[in-house]
Amino acid sequence: MASPIISIQDGAENSQQLSINSRNIENAVTGNITIPGDKSISHRALMLGAIAEGETIIEGLLLGEDPRSTAVCFRAMGAEISELNSQQVIVKGVGIGNLQEPQDILDAGNSGTTMRLMLGLLASHPNRLFTVTGDNSLRSRPMSRVIKPLSSMGASIWGRKGNSLAPLAVRGQQLRPMHYHSPIASAQVKSCILLAGLMVDGQTTVTEPALSRDHSERMLKAFGATLDIDPQTNSVTLTGQPTLRGQKVIVPGDISSAAFWLVAGAIVPGSDLLITNVGVNPTRTGILEALGMMEADITKENERVVAGEPVADLRVKHSQLKACEISGDIIPRLIDEIPILAVAAAFAEGTTVIKDAAELRVKESDRLAVMATELGKMGANITELEDGLEIVGGNSLRGAEVDSFSDHRIAMSLAIAALNATGETIIHRAEAASISYPNFVTTLTAVLT
Ligand code: S3P
Repeated sequence: MASPIISIQDGAENSQQLSINSRNIENAVTGNITIPGDKSISHRALMLGAIAEGETIIEGLLLGEDPRSTAVCFRAMGAEISELNSQQVIVKGVGIGNLQEPQDILDAGNSGTTMRLMLGLLASHPNRLFTVTGDNSLRSRPMSRVIKPLSSMGASIWGRKGNSLAPLAVRGQQLRPMHYHSPIASAQVKSCILLAGLMVDGQTTVTEPALSRDHSERMLKAFGATLDIDPQTNSVTLTGQPTLRGQKVIVPGDISSAAFWLVAGAIVPGSDLLITNVGVNPTRTGILEALGMMEADITKENERVVAGEPVADLRVKHSQLKACEISGDIIPRLIDEIPILAVAAAFAEGTTVIKDAAELRVKESDRLAVMATELGKMGANITELEDGLEIVGGNSLRGAEVDSFSDHRIAMSLAIAALNATGETIIHRAEAASISYPNFVTTLTAVLT
C-alpha cells in the first residue's frame, strides 16, 4: 500500500520544515502505538518531588522541552534531579519552604505550566528573591491571572506592563490564607494558588467556574497533603504546612498527544489503530466525548488505575464523522485538543461550532486565529469566531505551505490534516512538536507503514 512521503528539511533560523506528500492514496493509520508521558503530570511530579522530603521516583516522564524547563529551574533551586529519561528519574527534594535562592534567572522556556505553577512556590518563600523569564511566546502570555490572586495573599511580584508580563521579579513573603474565586477554569491558576497555600498557616480554597484538570489535587494528596474537594461548587481546600513525602509516580501516556492519532484514525479511510496506556482522567477526556458526539468509532479497552490516575487503551477505526457543537463546561476538559478537533470537523458532515474557547487566544499562539488561517490555506471552510471556530465540513483538503507559529499543537494538528489532503503540505517551524511530543514524526511514519 502506498504511503505518504515524509521528510524534514532545515528551515530559517534553526527551524525545521516537515513535508508530507499524501499523493491522494490510502494512508490508512494502523498498528499499535504508545505515546509519550502526560505533560501536566510530568511537571507536577518534578515540582512536588523537588519540594517533598526524601526521594521521588518518576517512571514514564515526558522528555519534551517543557518538563526539561521545569527540571532546569528546580535544579537551580537546590533539588537534585537525575538525568531525565522515560524509564526512571530520581528527584531528591528539599522539603517545603526550602527552595534556595537561584544564582541566575529561572527560564521557563515555552512552558506556561512551569512559570505559573512555580510562581506559587516562589512567592511563598519569605525573603528570597527570584527572577523568572521565558521565550518570546511565554513573555507575551498573561501572568496577571496568577499575580493578582497571589498578591491578595500578600505576594510581592513585579513584571512588565503593569505586573502582567514576564520577565518577573518575585520577593518571597509569608502569605495569608485566602478563598479565591477564579474567573477562569484554569488548572494552572488553581495549581499555582494551591502550591502557594502549602506554606500558608491556615486553609487556601480555590473555586473555579468549571472543573479543570485535577492532577495537582490527586498528586498533592498522594504526597501527604490534606485536601477537601467539593464537586458541587468546583472548590478545593488545601490545609497549609503539611509534610510532603517523596513518592513513586507512574506517568500515563498523554491523552492530549493521543488526540492526534485518534483524529488521524477517525478521518483516514481504512484505519484501525490501538493506542496503549493513555491517561483517561475524567477532567481530560472531553476529547473522547466530543469525538463520540461526532460518531467516531473509539473504544476503551483494559481500563485500570495506575498510581492514582485512570488509564486505558484506546482503539480507533475510521468512520464518517458528523458535525457537533462544542461549548460550555466541556471546554476546560478538552482545552488543548481544540486545534485537532478543528481538523476532525473539517472532515465531518455538517457545520461544527466551537464556542466559549476564548482562552485559546492566550495559549502558545492565538490558536483560533492560527487554525483558521492555516487550515483555511488547505481549503477548509473555517471561520474564526470571537470565542471559537465555525467549520463547515466536507471540503476535500489540498496540500499547502502552512506555519505552526512555533506552537506544538498547531504543528501536529496540521500534520494530521495533511494525511488526508491531496498533494504536498509543508509545515514551517514543525520542530515545535518537541515541546510535548519529541518522537512525533517517528510515530507518524510508523503508523503509516
Ligand atoms: C495545564 C493547564 C491548561 C493547559 C496546559 C496545561 C496544566 O492550561 O492548556 O497545556 O498542566 O495545568 P490553563 O490552566 O491555562 O487552562
